[in-house]
Amino acid sequence: MRIGVLTGGGDCPGLNAVIRAVVRKGVDTYGHEFVGFRDGWRGPLEGNTMTLGIKEVRGILPRGGTILGSSRTNPFKIEGGVEKIKNNLTELGVDALVAIGGEDTLGVATKLDELGVKVVGVPKTIDNDLGATDYTFGFDTAVNIAMEAIDRLHTTAESHHRTLVVEVMGRHAGWIALHAGIAGGANVILLPEKQFDVEQVAAYVEKRFQHQYAPIVVVAEGAQPLDGQMVLHNQELDAFGHVRLGGIGQWLAEQLEAKTGKEARTVVLGHIQRGGTPTAADRVLATRFGLQAIDAIHEGDFGKMMALRGTDIVRVPLIEGTRELKTVPVERYTEVETFFGS
Ligand code: F6P
Repeated sequence: MRIGVLTGGGDCPGLNAVIRAVVRKGVDTYGHEFVGFRDGWRGPLEGNTMTLGIKEVRGILPRGGTILGSSRTNPFKIEGGVEKIKNNLTELGVDALVAIGGEDTLGVATKLDELGVKVVGVPKTIDNDLGATDYTFGFDTAVNIAMEAIDRLHTTAESHHRTLVVEVMGRHAGWIALHAGIAGGANVILLPEKQFDVEQVAAYVEKRFQHQYAPIVVVAEGAQPLDGQMVLHNQELDAFGHVRLGGIGQWLAEQLEAKTGKEARTVVLGHIQRGGTPTAADRVLATRFGLQAIDAIHEGDFGKMMALRGTDIVRVPLIEGTRELKTVPVERYTEVETFFGS
């Protein structure tokens, strides 16, 4: 078989580990041939390819990003896009596709599968918010990077008796904030799932100062204060039509400084959380997803997404993969909320 591979959406540590596993097992065990599509769905749309074989995947396991490049191109939003993809696949002699991506990329894969394209999906997102899988690779790396930043911020915050507000990624789900906040010993953690009361946060901060320690507040980029405490922060669209978030950390630091009389600083971790080498856990998960994906292709089990259930890698229908956004359940948040400020 001749198999196309693409990576779409925001990049994520572990993408290269998936590509490597798919290609190595595909070539060595099954004798398949591969073609790399550049920049997500734009690759098959424009027929933009690269050679993808054993040589190309050598040494990429520890590398962040994706050797294939990525984009958020959606062929269903482009006139004649789907037809172009189908024609290009036929012309290039591509029998099946491995699509590695998040909600949008897998959403496209689901629709193409319904239209007869042979495709399997591998889920990725640092946000860990895809409902059908217990974890996605990239999440562990992002959490570790944020945790390390928080560890460092504790000492500078304490030296200067300041509040440090750390803004982490997470537009709709606060998994990174929750895990990094717990692991880094943050004093307050704020998530998109629950609006926060800025007066209450200021009270936690003051309590922490009374204990002779400087507080660290972790806030997810999509977190919002109670209605009326702030107009929705900057949610304009950028030049590419993506929602631009960010700004909540700065706003919160200013509020806390005014309310507590203690200096406050903001650190926005941003894309640092997505860059660089994947952790061991992410390399393992990404490799296992890749091995299962090529097995599925080889067996002709198309229209499936790889998922982690407990410790097993299973195949679920692609449509299930993007059906539900996995947010932090109330009880998981309540668990830690009880010791905020202490
Ligand atoms: O989906 C992952 C994510 O990292 C979000 O947490 C973040 O809001 C978004 O991507 C930003 O992506 P970009 O800057 O590439 O549009």
